[in-house]
Amino acid sequence: MTTPSSDRARTSRQAHVTGWGRYAPAQVLTNADLERMVDTSDEWIRSRTGIRERRVAAAHETTASMAAVAGLRAIAVAGLQPDDIDLILLGTLTPDYWMPSTAALVKEAIGNTRAAAMDVMAACSGFVYAYASAHAHIVSGMARHALVIGAETLTRFLDYSDRNTCILFGDGAGAVVLSASDEPGGGLGIELTTEPSGAYMIWLPAGGAKAPPSLDTLARREHFIRMEGRETYRFATRTLATTALTAVERAGLQPSDIDLFIPHQANIRIIEAVAKGLDLPMERMFVNVDRYGNTSAASIPIALAEAVDSGRVKVGDDIVMVAFGAGFTSGAIALRWTADPARGAIADTIAPDVVRIRPPVDWDSAEAIPPALAAVLGGTVVGDETDLDDIVPGDADAGAAAAEGHGPDGRGSDARGTKVHA
Ligand code: UT7
Repeated sequence: MTTPSSDRARTSRQAHVTGWGRYAPAQVLTNADLERMVDTSDEWIRSRTGIRERRVAAAHETTASMAAVAGLRAIAVAGLQPDDIDLILLGTLTPDYWMPSTAALVKEAIGNTRAAAMDVMAACSGFVYAYASAHAHIVSGMARHALVIGAETLTRFLDYSDRNTCILFGDGAGAVVLSASDEPGGGLGIELTTEPSGAYMIWLPAGGAKAPPSLDTLARREHFIRMEGRETYRFATRTLATTALTAVERAGLQPSDIDLFIPHQANIRIIEAVAKGLDLPMERMFVNVDRYGNTSAASIPIALAEAVDSGRVKVGDDIVMVAFGAGFTSGAIALRWTADPARGAIADTIAPDVVRIRPPVDWDSAEAIPPALAAVLGGTVVGDETDLDDIVPGDADAGAAAAEGHGPDGRGSDARGTKVHA
């Protein structure tokens, strides 16, 4: 990462949002679909959470691929080239791999050669934590343009026999570009908190150093997200309003001064509690949980991009993004919007298929889509037709063919050559 020396001397440097973008996979999982999987009902899910449907990544999509599309869209809206970015921070709890970072894969996929890239693990607060870190890099002069992404493929970490969790979550990605400016605006007040007494209220028990993967951990279904919903709900309703309030006060404002709140989209009842806690009408809260469910770190940047693109944000508006999640983490950013909302239309020029995540050339993994999900969505994953002997280390052509979704047989298939038949 390069640090422009002339920028270091500036004391009034601000970090403005100059670009924004989102990507949601096409496949929709409805409450009716979930009724076929667990003992639940559309009525229960809608009345307890506000969720009507959520998106599911296709077999060839991953956190990195969705993040790269959202990121390229944000860069285009900012009027920049990928190589203008000198910092990439990606909030996620569902990385493609434990290592390398998903941010590193995104850097390569968007064609950036300059940026430092890393993942930020703060669960559903990941985007807000990443945004705050990028803000600090920019105002200190360490970065000029930062790409901040929240991206998740939660549907691959859910136990589709646990009705307490599998109804809640969905996949997607959102991103912003933060750019240095000497003009007023951008981040005005930031608050980040972590409350580890809630560490095991939402967690994924196995796969880490405490419980390395084994047949035993698999048999116990410990590779799936677990949650104490009621305790998490209590934490969220207690914390979101106070975290938001602290950020608003740091900005020298009152809640009534804020034009729009972009709260983490976990549950409509939690968002209503935030509005009540801040003594504001629901019209000041942006809501899209009905269409996406809880997309964890992707939730706020998707909501922000939708809010701007749907005309809910104008130049000069003060907005607050506020998140909570496993850890327990919480974070809020109060900021003044300075970008022309009409520029959001430029994101449409970036089609999802421009993104290629380079596959490992000598390794192939198991099926991406959980069988219970594949069955209910009408697609049956019918095996892997890529012969590993056809993909050898250093064979750029074979790697590129797999990356482009053209299996060695020349027919349509995903990056691993896996076929999903409808
Ligand atoms: O991003 C952070 C991640 N997490 C969250 O934000 C989640 C926060 N928590 C919540 O949103 C809510 O606690 C839930 C939506 C998860 C649950 O709603 P609740 O009103 O707190 O329900 P509950 O857990 O108190 O369960 C009430 C009843 C229980 O039955 P009994 O014990 O009263 O007989 C559950 O077994 O509802 C039952 N239940 C369900 N019934 C139908 C739980 N899940 C379901 C379901 N369908 N999917």
